[in-house]
Amino acid sequence: MICLSEQIKEQHDGINPTVFMGSEVPFPFEREKSAMRVNGIAEAVSDCLPLLEEWSIPSRLASLQGYSGVYQGYITDLARDWLNALSEEERQQVEIYSCGPTPMLKAVAALAKEFDLPCQVSLEEYMACAVGGCAGCVVKVTTDEGEAMKRVCVDGPVFDAHTVFA
Ligand code: FES
Repeated sequence: MICLSEQIKEQHDGINPTVFMGSEVPFPFEREKSAMRVNGIAEAVSDCLPLLEEWSIPSRLASLQGYSGVYQGYITDLARDWLNALSEEERQQVEIYSCGPTPMLKAVAALAKEFDLPCQVSLEEYMACAVGGCAGCVVKVTTDEGEAMKRVCVDGPVFDAHTVFA
């Protein structure tokens, strides 16, 4: 997500990524207070990823562990607050990209569906060969021709969320 947001920022003038990150274990970096406001997010939810802050990419953190400066709840609820604060016009320009555990991706896909937004998810699966030979990493996706099994290792790992979590 960090690389993606950096690329979007660098290569697409006028498109401003916003990053939300959740964790139920201590965040693997020193959190710092952001100098950037994020619409719809309470001021007390101020902590961010320092690297993104350095690149002028707004970010906020979520957790159920009671860390100060961090949103107390699920990442999808944090994102929902942000989406609700956007104008209709702004919301129509949003695309969601997500990676993480499957239950979270499923919740993100549901959020995208709720707001009728495009959404891509990077799936995590156990991989035995990782080169497309063993079919150990297949997921069911919906295609124009009906349901199909796709290998996460070579057909993904990034899929349209709406084809994976119908
Ligand atoms: S891990 Fe073997 S096909 Fe994907």
